[in-house]
Amino acid sequence: MNVLVKIALLIALLPAVSYGGNKPAHENHAITSGVGLLSPGLRGLLVQEMQSLQDGMVSIIPAYHSGNWEEIEITARKMKNSYILKQELTKNQATELHSVLPHEFIKKDQQFHYLAGMLEHAAKSKKSELINFYFSEMNASCVGCHATFAIHRFPALAPKPKMKNHQDHH
Ligand code: HEC
Repeated sequence: MNVLVKIALLIALLPAVSYGGNKPAHENHAITSGVGLLSPGLRGLLVQEMQSLQDGMVSIIPAYHSGNWEEIEITARKMKNSYILKQELTKNQATELHSVLPHEFIKKDQQFHYLAGMLEHAAKSKKSELINFYFSEMNASCVGCHATFAIHRFPALAPKPKMKNHQDHH
C-alpha cells in the first residue's frame, strides 16, 4: 500500500481522533472532521461567527487607511468577545464543543482572541504600526486555523506536496 492510500484510509477510518498538538499540520487532516461532528445548531453558530469575523476584518481596512482608530478598537473588541467559544452557549452546547473539538482548535481559538485583544489595545493607543502588525498576525491566525481545521471548506490551504513523504521533515 502506498503512503497516500494509507493516509486516505487513516482519514476515512479515524474521523474523530484528536491528536496531540505537536504534530505537523499535514498529519492532522483527520481532525478536520472534528467540526463535521458538531450538531447542526452549533455548526451553524460557528459559520455565522466566521462570517462576522470576516466582516470585521474587511471593515478594518478602510478604517485603518483613514485613521479611524476608534472604529478599529470597537471592531477588535467585538471580535475578541463575540467568537463562538466566548458566546453564551447552553451548557450542553459548551460541553459538546469541548468534547468534539480537539485541544489544538481551542488553542488556536485562544491565540486568535489574544491577537484581537492586542489589536484593540493598539487601536486604543492610536499606534498605527502596531495596528498593522496585529492585523497581519490576525490574518495569519485565520489561515493557520483554516489550514488545519477547515481544508474541507478551503481546499487551497491544504499542504499538498508535504503529504507525499513524512521523512521530508526530519
Ligand atoms: C480556531 C480556528 C479558526 C480561526 C482562528 C478562524 N477560523 Fe474561520 N473557520 C474555521 C472552521 C473550522 C471553518 C469551517 C466551518 C465549517 O465547515 O462548518 C471556518 C470557516 C470560515 C469561513 C466560511 C464560513 C462559511 O460561510 O462556510 C469564513 C468566511 C471564515 N472562516 C473566516 C475567518 C476569518 C476572517 C478568520 C480570522 C479573522 C477566521 N475565520 C479564523 C476555523 C477558524
